[in-house]
Amino acid sequence: MLRPSLILGLALAPLVACADGRTAAPAPANAASGGLPERPAKLGLCASCHGDDGTSRIAGTPHLGGQDRIYLARSLAAYRSGERRHEPMTSLANALQPADIEALAAWYAAQPGFVGGGQR
Ligand code: HEC
Repeated sequence: MLRPSLILGLALAPLVACADGRTAAPAPANAASGGLPERPAKLGLCASCHGDDGTSRIAGTPHLGGQDRIYLARSLAAYRSGERRHEPMTSLANALQPADIEALAAWYAAQPGFVGGGQR
């Protein structure tokens, strides 16, 4: 016959396991960077106008932070193919490889986004 203490132990084991932080869901691989994707190698080409975090520094330049990732990648591809034309984006996009476009789109999409309103 099972002893009452053993039954209690078996019943409580999952609760104890849950309370133990080490058994919680594994942290995302990029937790060290605050959950953001890796900083793109070509971000330096963009930050002077769109900011590191996608908050535009310049009137007439769109905020990119928090924008849809697929839309950003598609826009860059459209500048690159000439389907969408606007300097300086046409020239800049021509300096990007498809992998750069994916990295930049993922980076800007993962930023908190512009919440200020009003003029810069
Ligand atoms: C010299 C300033 C400048 C720099 C540098 C620059 N951009 Fe832009 N970007 C603009 C302007 C101005 C527009 C709006 C162009 C238009 O009307 O099509 C724009 C538009 C965009 C758009 C389209 C946004 C939308 O809402 O449709 C994306 C995406 C973008 N830029 C990404 C980038 C990336 C990525 C880089 C770096 C490789 C970069 N830009 C560098 C000025 C800049």
